[in-house]
Amino acid sequence: MSVSARKKAITPVDVRARKGAEPLVTLTAYTTPMARIVDRHADIILVGDSLGMVVHGLPSTLGVTLEMMILHGQAVRRGCQKALLVIDMPFGSYEESPEQAFRNAARIMTETGCGAVKLEGGVSMAETIAFLTRRGIPVMAHVGLLPQSVNVVGGYKVQGRGADAERVLADAKAVAEAGAFSVVLEKVSEPLGRRITGEITIPTIGIGASAACDGQVLVLDDMLGLFEDFKPSFVRRYAELGGTVDAAVAAYAEEVRARAFPAEEHVYPE
Ligand code: KIV
Repeated sequence: MSVSARKKAITPVDVRARKGAEPLVTLTAYTTPMARIVDRHADIILVGDSLGMVVHGLPSTLGVTLEMMILHGQAVRRGCQKALLVIDMPFGSYEESPEQAFRNAARIMTETGCGAVKLEGGVSMAETIAFLTRRGIPVMAHVGLLPQSVNVVGGYKVQGRGADAERVLADAKAVAEAGAFSVVLEKVSEPLGRRITGEITIPTIGIGASAACDGQVLVLDDMLGLFEDFKPSFVRRYAELGGTVDAAVAAYAEEVRARAFPAEEHVYPE
């Protein structure tokens, strides 16, 4: 893709400037054809490590590798003209040290051409976020429910209930102060989503965190009804493509069994 074709692409600075303004439309994508469709409508395309579950059938995001993220990132980049492309740093690729995070984030950026990376963690990741942003890597943070920490928190539970709200707020403040240009806020109540959005200076992009946030992100396969293993309670399905695909495959199977598919003379007329 030429430099001019990407001239009007949304940047992390544009996203940062949308604080309190028009909500940021964010969706995941993992392949070129889906990225082409999402790019027409979204401000941000996230190649989330959710791809481990919805594309590769893994039980959680923990088995996702840097190589998987780069491969899907390259595919999505080919379908992305206008939206800001953000790629998740997978589990184990950034937690050890700021230097490890920089090395792997730089690899993701140079090998995919994405505009930013996302990593999970609040106060504990603030130093790493500052280290990356000072060295030219825009970071989208992720606080609240952290799917990569599912084994420590004991499931995909609502975060910030009662006194725990202060912890999630402190996490959001820490990543904003460290230089993140936006933050994903996952699975917190509406009052907490509203409070955090009001108290920090960067856009909050909610997932199960209410319309009070500065934007929303959903997993594409969830909102299209393509991922049938598990349906998060906050996900609204805008289509039931799982059923549509099932019906199409069943119709095809029936035709083949009945030898009802087009005969060769019709496909290749003399
Ligand atoms: O991996 C992912 O898709 C994500 C979103 C759900 C925010 O992190």
